[in-house]
Amino acid sequence: NWSMENFIDIEVDKVRESVGNRKVLCALSGGVDSSVVAALLHKAIGDQLICMFIDHGLLRKNEAESVMKIFADGFDMNVIKIDAQERFLKKLEGISDPEQKRKIIGNEFIYIFEEEAGKLQDVDFLAQGTLYTDIIESGTDTAQTIKSHHNVGGLPENMHFDLIEPLNTLFKDEVRAVGAELGLSDEIVWRQPFPGPGLGIRVLGEITQEKLEIVRESDAILRDEIKKAGLDRHIWQYFTALPDMRSVGVMGDARTYDYTVGIRAVTSIDGMTSDWARIPYDILEIISTRIVNEVKHVNRVVYDITSKPPSTIEWE
Ligand code: XMP
Repeated sequence: NWSMENFIDIEVDKVRESVGNRKVLCALSGGVDSSVVAALLHKAIGDQLICMFIDHGLLRKNEAESVMKIFADGFDMNVIKIDAQERFLKKLEGISDPEQKRKIIGNEFIYIFEEEAGKLQDVDFLAQGTLYTDIIESGTDTAQTIKSHHNVGGLPENMHFDLIEPLNTLFKDEVRAVGAELGLSDEIVWRQPFPGPGLGIRVLGEITQEKLEIVRESDAILRDEIKKAGLDRHIWQYFTALPDMRSVGVMGDARTYDYTVGIRAVTSIDGMTSDWARIPYDILEIISTRIVNEVKHVNRVVYDITSKPPSTIEWE
C-alpha cells in the first residue's frame, strides 16, 4: 500500500544499504526534482551527501541566494556553490541561435560539473531526480525533436558513478507530496517549471548582461504581482522574455527608443500543450506600469496570447 511515509522510509533504507559509508554527489538546481532528491538523500545519509549548485548566471532574481539559504543554511547540507557566471557569458558571447545557445549552456554545465566533481575525493554515487515520466518520455519524446530539451543536471557521459534515482517510480504530484513530507517549503515544492538553460533562452538572440538584467527585473515584478493577486497556483508557468527589438516611445517630453518586454503566462497539465492564461486586465495593467517604471530601458510591454501549439511556451 503506497503512502508517502512508507515511500520515504523504504527509499531511505535502500539508499543507506547501497551507499554504506561512501559518498554521493547530487547536482542541485533548486527545481522541485533535484531538491526532493537532495532532501531525501540528506535524510538517509546526512553528511555523506555532497550537493553541487552551479550558478550559470542565467538564474532568476535572488535564486542562487535562496537555494543556498534553504539547503546550506536551513537543511545544513553540504552544498558546494560554483560561481560560473562569467564563464558562461563568455562562451555565449556573439551567439544568437537558440539551439546553439542551448548546446553551449548544456555542454558547459557538464564540463564544469566534471571538473568540480573530479576535485572531490571518494565519491562513488551520483543522485539524480529522474521521474517516472522522464523514463517514459525519453522513448518517444516529441518535444525533443522540436527543441533539444537540455536538462541541466543530466549525467555526464564519461563519468563513472553508480546512479541513484530514488524518484524514478513517481509522478510529479507524488514528488511534491514527498517533498512536503520531507519538510521542503511551498516555495520549493510548488516552484514553477524553469528550463535548464534558464534566462539564456528568455533573452532572445545574443545574450548580454544588460538584457539579462532586464529579464531578471521584469520577471521579478511579474512574479511578485501574480503572487499578490493569488494567481500563482492557477497559472502553470509565467515569466517575461526579451525579444531582440526596440521601438519608439515617449517619456516626459522625450522620445525613447528602447526594449519591449513580453509577458508569457500559460495554463497547462504537462507542458506538452498549453493555453494562455486569462490574467485580469487590471492585474496586467499593474504589471505593465511597474515594468516600464521600474526597469530601465523598457518602454513597451506586450502579452503573449498564443496557445501551444502553434507556439511553444518558451520563446526560444
Ligand atoms: P516549450 O517551450 O517547448 O516548453 O513549449 C515546454 C516546457 O519545457 C520547458 N523547457 C525546457 N526545459 N530545458 C529544460 O529543462 C530546455 O531546454 C527547455 N526548453 C523548454 C519549458 O519551460 C516548459 O515548461
